[in-house]
Amino acid sequence: MVAARITVNGKETRISPAPAHTTVLDFLRERGLTGTKEGCAEGECGACSVLVARPGVDKPTDWVAVNACLVPVAALDGQEVVTSEGLAGADASGTPAVLHPVQEEMAVRGGSQCGFCTPGFICSMASEYYRPDRCAHADPADGSGSGSGSGSEHGPNGFDLHALSGNLCRCTGYRPIRDAAYAVGMPAEDDPLARRREQSPPEPAATAYTQDDSAFLRPGTLADAVRLLRERPDAVVVAGSTDWGVEVNIRSRRAHCVVAVDRLPELRALHVGSDHIEIGAAQTLTEIERRLDGAVPLLAELFPQFASRLIRNSATLGGNLGTGSPIGDSPPVLLALEASLVLADADGEREVPLCDYFTGYRQSVRRPGELIRAVRVPLPLSPVTAFHKIAKRRFDDISSVAVAFALDIEDGTVRKARIGLGGIAATPIRALATEAALEGEPWTERTAEAAARVLRAEGTPMDDHRASAGYRTAMLGQSLLKLYARTTEAVPS
Ligand code: FES
Ligand code: FES
Repeated sequence: MVAARITVNGKETRISPAPAHTTVLDFLRERGLTGTKEGCAEGECGACSVLVARPGVDKPTDWVAVNACLVPVAALDGQEVVTSEGLAGADASGTPAVLHPVQEEMAVRGGSQCGFCTPGFICSMASEYYRPDRCAHADPADGSGSGSGSGSEHGPNGFDLHALSGNLCRCTGYRPIRDAAYAVGMPAEDDPLARRREQSPPEPAATAYTQDDSAFLRPGTLADAVRLLRERPDAVVVAGSTDWGVEVNIRSRRAHCVVAVDRLPELRALHVGSDHIEIGAAQTLTEIERRLDGAVPLLAELFPQFASRLIRNSATLGGNLGTGSPIGDSPPVLLALEASLVLADADGEREVPLCDYFTGYRQSVRRPGELIRAVRVPLPLSPVTAFHKIAKRRFDDISSVAVAFALDIEDGTVRKARIGLGGIAATPIRALATEAALEGEPWTERTAEAAARVLRAEGTPMDDHRASAGYRTAMLGQSLLKLYARTTEAVPS
């Protein structure tokens, strides 16, 4: 096995002797690349943003911005990383030669004061700067050509401000930063990072990185992965590390063995068939968003509200379901879509409806050694859908309550209702009583009000620091009334 290596700003570096849990952030800073900052160490501020060369959606390679504080450096074995120091290229002494166009705009438009957040903003902006399907359009409000799903906010240069939804600034204020984002042009033809997009990204290396008594392992195939998990039932399985990275940094958790599944080819397909869509469990949310391009409206409504672009660039559906969190944002949506999971282990595969998957707080029917290989969404889709995430912030926040609706309404009657709920019980749940209260009824204000009363009684909401039980209950009912108002343009009484 070749020693683990990473290419940073064009220079290849050995990863050892860093401990296996070392994050990309700590690795870079220990090597003097201190432009990459630590703010929160839990994926919420973006001060640590760096660019990674990943398989592209529209070109062979995309420059994807990720939170360096969450990713173990061993996960980037064989990969290419660019930091704020490397964006503009360097002269013979290693000093950045000129400002990158994104850095230039941030400087001249006053987008930086103390500068702590700036390198992170720069990397997130650069990722959007190099997005291959970014194009200028006449009407900034229409968002056309973005391929980024609903909720985008585009400048006249096609820059989607959501690219910065995971970056926080405490002192400059966001308007000058937005001005800089909306002022950047298109990459020049001889721009090295733009040209790099035309070649394939590095192949994922089969990694067996061991330091002291801990290991980071990346099997090359699904068969190798499930065999390994049978041998190492104690292993922590990671995809984008957006959850495990927080455990490592904030709760000081360590694992003897971490197994990465995010680049397994068997987990990375996305197939639209005649009776279902199959989404590989290790596709990142950004990849799914861009590949589906609005084909599943309920998912398109979910994605902009799921954490931030930085997190969505690493997070996967498999990870969000695998943690079994009752406040994950994807389960309510997938429950409303009647999705099922394809689980794989060394003995083969089985399909489990998502409504039968969760068994208790962070528990599921997934057996030790079993992986989520894919998520299947049956077709046709119900035409009336909505996802309401109630949280303290519009973006980059955790749900207090999440409600997803998928209704078939024909000739004014609700033929089918599927409602997924998060944040109101120990697991994500279907609102079965409310579904029954709607089905077969006329889609009228009276029906919506009656069903909203039923919905308020679903689950067992609790008081915590995010919301009181009473607030959660009230939001459930309001959510259905809001859906009714939206579909009929009526105002709920
Ligand atoms: Fe805050 Fe990484 S340090 S997101
Ligand atoms: Fe100071 Fe953003 S410039 S935190």
